Parts: sequence; structure tokens; C-alpha cells
Amino acid sequence: MPDTRVSIPELLNMKRSRTKITMLTAYDYSMARAVDQAGIELILVGDSLGMVVLGYESTTAVTMEEMLHHAKAVRRGVKRALVVGDMPFLSFHVSLRDTVKNAGRFVQEAGCDAVKIEWKNGIEDVAKAIVDAGIPVMGHVGLTPQTAAGAGGFRVQGRDAESALRIRAQAVALQEVGCFAVVLECIPDALAKEITERLSIPTIGIGAGPQCDGQVLVSYDLLGLFESFTPKFVRRYATMAETIREAVGAFRDDVRQGFFPGREQTFSMPPEELARLQQELGTSRGAA
Ligand code: KIV
Repeated sequence: MPDTRVSIPELLNMKRSRTKITMLTAYDYSMARAVDQAGIELILVGDSLGMVVLGYESTTAVTMEEMLHHAKAVRRGVKRALVVGDMPFLSFHVSLRDTVKNAGRFVQEAGCDAVKIEWKNGIEDVAKAIVDAGIPVMGHVGLTPQTAAGAGGFRVQGRDAESALRIRAQAVALQEVGCFAVVLECIPDALAKEITERLSIPTIGIGAGPQCDGQVLVSYDLLGLFESFTPKFVRRYATMAETIREAVGAFRDDVRQGFFPGREQTFSMPPEELARLQQELGTSRGAA
């Protein structure tokens, strides 16, 4: 694996040469390190953090401070991948001034390389303000979880011609204001193909079929660590929650049966020091 940092021009070259791009979420040092060492190009500190790590019911509860806390940990674990901080709900919704400030915190305080913003009305101005401040921006269209509840729930978007054209226009608008890539979430494969062919920046799909320039999944879904529900677009490559239950159960049994700790996990004293200690203990006990 080359140890040079992944760059935005490299991602554009990957699109041009039809080399698929991979992106996964990470939320802590150890996971980010393993994901990075496996050769993933983009690591997203996603606001999915709220549901899969913090146990909230939706992503809208996640705060800037929580995102920054986890983004800093991820940054410490990553040497090669481009680290993208996901701007949480309300961090880019109030004023452009606060938006740029919040995007800047991901870069200055957490060391992220870029930020991601979900589509909402007026997002072009928001994305442009962040890009103009010198911060690379990834857009996100289709199903946008932060506003999904108000927009009719968590379902596939762009299934009729009118909404398909709207989503395509949103992706084009994000490219025009300078986004370096766009996530396409939960849209039909034909629409994702059309957008991918139309854009010169990479599309990263999640539930958007195989024609996107890259694919992203929530790592806890891919690893089988988050079991509350599994969206149709997820493929599980491991059953880590099960592995954890088995390992923890084995530890509990070993402790109860006296098999843990064994000799290898136990520290001993040099025999002469042990003899001295026993002598001291005998003397002090005798004196007491
Ligand atoms: O927060 C997240 O994990 C995301 C991905 C699903 C793209 O936005």
C-alpha cells in the first residue's frame, strides 16, 4: 500500500480512469487505523456516529462537540486516507458565518481534510462559502437523513421522473459551486448512472447501485457491529457483535472457573524477594 496521502486530484484521476473509490465511516482511533491500513481512500467521520456509537434515535441529536471529539480520534489513527468530517444538523443551517466557522473547526481543531454537507434548500450558498474559505466540500443528495423525517421518511428518493431530475440538478449545482465529490444515497441505479456520467467530480454511492464512481458504507453495518436494523443496501462482511458476545462469554466463563488469569498473564516476584517479603511479613505479624 503506498503511504502517500490520498489527494483530491487523485480521486478525480480515479474517476477518469474508472478505478472505483472506497469510503467507510470511522469514529475512533483503532477503527480508523485499521480501515486506513486496509487501503480505503476516504474515511468519513459520519454523523451516523449518533446512532451506531452514541445510541441516539436519529442523527439530528449529534452536536458539533461530539463530532469534533470523534474526528480528532480518527485523525490520530489515519496516515493515508482523506479524512472527511460530516457537518451535523444545525451546524450549517443558521448563518453563513457560523457555517464557515464550524467547517473551519473540523479542519483546525480536528485535522480533517474536508467536510461533508447534506442537501437542503439554499445549500449552494453554504457550500460556496465553505469552498471560498479554502475548505474542500463533499455534497450529499438523495436520501438525506438529517431532514428525512420532514421529507416523508427514510425511503428511496428519485423514483419518479420529476424528483429524479431534481436530484440530478442538486448534484450538478453542488459541482458548480466547487464540491470535490458528491454522495448519492438511496436512489435508483439508473439515476445514479446518469448523475455519474454527467458530473466530472466523483459520485460515491450508498444504496445507489454499482455505476457510481465509488461506494460508501457505515463501517458498523459492514462489520455487523450495529444490529438494530440493516438497510437493504448493506452487505455484511463480518458478524462482529456476535464475535464480541462469544469472546466476552468465554472470558466470563474462564474467570468463573478460575482459568483466567493463567501463568502467562500473571506477574511473579524474584524468589529471593519473595522470601524476604515472607520473612518481613512473619516478623511484623509476630510483632503485632
Ligand atoms: O453519516 C454517515 O455515515 C453518512 C454516510 C452514510 C454517507 O452520511
